[in-house]
Amino acid sequence: MNIAVFVSGRGSNLQAILESDYTKNIVTVKAVISDKIDCAAFQIACKFSIPTFTIGKKPGNISYNELISSLKNLEIEIIVLAGFLKLIPIEFLDSFQNKIINIHPALLPLYGGPGMYGMNVHRAVFNSGDKYSGATVHLVNEVYDSGQVIAQEKIDISELGSPDEIAEKVLNVEHKLLPTVLRKIAEGKIDLQKL
Ligand code: GRF
Repeated sequence: MNIAVFVSGRGSNLQAILESDYTKNIVTVKAVISDKIDCAAFQIACKFSIPTFTIGKKPGNISYNELISSLKNLEIEIIVLAGFLKLIPIEFLDSFQNKIINIHPALLPLYGGPGMYGMNVHRAVFNSGDKYSGATVHLVNEVYDSGQVIAQEKIDISELGSPDEIAEKVLNVEHKLLPTVLRKIAEGKIDLQKL
């Protein structure tokens, strides 16, 4: 299954997809797309010789319309948002209906929406005193973090003493959950068109 991965920062989920046993020989990352040319995730893409595309309005960047053509030419079947911070425009969503998924570091619908990314999420969870957090993989639509949930993994955080500790434990969960979901999609065990 050919996929494209959208990133904005560190790229640890991209790396997990590239190195996981769950995705080996079954999922191929054909393109990595970012709104930030100097993100660490692009260095990971380079290390694995994966073509990168920088999206945006600056000279040299490509537009969403150009990206649609490029991804169709690469026969991309699924698009993964892994730490991509911008909202995806409607014309792009329409071109890949029910084929775009996102990973979120909390148990949606809790702790999602605008501003709920990175440590903001883990601080909010910690301050709430919740006993559980986790990760969610969901379909992407035109509203942040509101598409249908595909898979979730819940962890006990009641013994953890800081937002940083929650972030670390949740990230470990993400690195297994996302490759697992991709494998299931590739094997036809999850059908995104029938959710
Ligand atoms: C992850 O926590 C993911 O859930 C969220 O953004 C973070 C990206 O981390 N959407 P990384 O760039 O994959 O390391």
